[in-house]
Amino acid sequence: MKAAITATANFLPADILSNHDLELMLETNDEWIRSRTGIGERRILKDPAKATSFMCGEVARQLLEKRQIAATDIDLIIVATMTPDMLFPSTACLVQSIIGATNAWAFDLNAACSGFLYALNTAARFIESGAQKKVMVLGGDKMSSVIDYTDRSTAILFGDGAGGVLLEPAQDDSFGILDARLYSDGTNGKDRLLMTGGGSLHPATHETIDKKMHYIYQDGRQVFKAAVTSMADVATEIMSRNNLRSEDIDYLVPHQANQRIIDATGERMGIDPSKVFSNVVRYGNTTAGTIPICLAELDEQKKLHRGANIVLVSFGAGYTWGGIYIKWQ
Ligand code: UT7
Repeated sequence: MKAAITATANFLPADILSNHDLELMLETNDEWIRSRTGIGERRILKDPAKATSFMCGEVARQLLEKRQIAATDIDLIIVATMTPDMLFPSTACLVQSIIGATNAWAFDLNAACSGFLYALNTAARFIESGAQKKVMVLGGDKMSSVIDYTDRSTAILFGDGAGGVLLEPAQDDSFGILDARLYSDGTNGKDRLLMTGGGSLHPATHETIDKKMHYIYQDGRQVFKAAVTSMADVATEIMSRNNLRSEDIDYLVPHQANQRIIDATGERMGIDPSKVFSNVVRYGNTTAGTIPICLAELDEQKKLHRGANIVLVSFGAGYTWGGIYIKWQ
């Protein structure tokens, strides 16, 4: 049995933080940000009383509505996030409570920007085994909660948002999630993209706050290089494992961190730029939210027809990266 996506949804907060807004806060400019990243603006969840569970809860509600099912029909909720509302309970349990999915079990999964692909692959195994029939796979991050808005090397990149899918048994074995390759490299990744404070190694103290340890740190150049190579490698691996020629692919949905990384991945796969989905100009990098946000936009635009070959690829902190091949049902 294969697992297929039967509904998609996303939630983007209404408030916009544009490059011009950032020009007033930092020594940066719209031209630099656009040419180096492709980003024009990002969304920010301004209400301090709302966090990742709120955005994921909005996505979950939409999924139920679109599929016309009750919250009590859901067997499992997986939330991919690196900005949970709190360390515990999990954001997945908070979402369960928001929608009233009383029959579900729920857990969080953290693989940073690759979180959604890790979660989708995990969820697919529960469907394929027959253990679960309806799984919500959500990805969301309130990145504004971990960004130092005086640091131009990270502040320009990230935005808030969430997306998600409902996963169910496919109608037959030729549809759904047909292949997945997921990787990690803690040795090379652990010091290059991280937030050191707030965990069990450096719990919050006055010192961790003074040293800005509760914000993201990134060695942008090294992460860029690793992202370009890894995303292109895993994308071509997915193609050759599944005998997919470039013309067979209907959409590449890459993680949205930087337009230059997105373009490089599409070029290595030899696919037409019109088939490479990108919304980084509007939302920046929403971490675990990016890929399901893209899928929901493609779905909304009626571009996901039956039989479409979709390749998802991501790269993020850890390092973590991977690719998933879906034949749309
Ligand atoms: O989701 C996975 C995680 N993240 C990523 O995939 C992001 C990977 N990295 C990147 O996207 C890019 O490395 C960045 C966008 C972060 C940086 O772009 P870059 O082309 O690698 O720039 P750079 O860091 O090499 O900096 C080039 C110059 C430097 O000035 P000098 O030394 O050449 O005088 C920086 O100080 O640009 C300067 N700079 C800026 N200037 C204006 C760095 N940030 C900014 C800024 N505005 N925001």
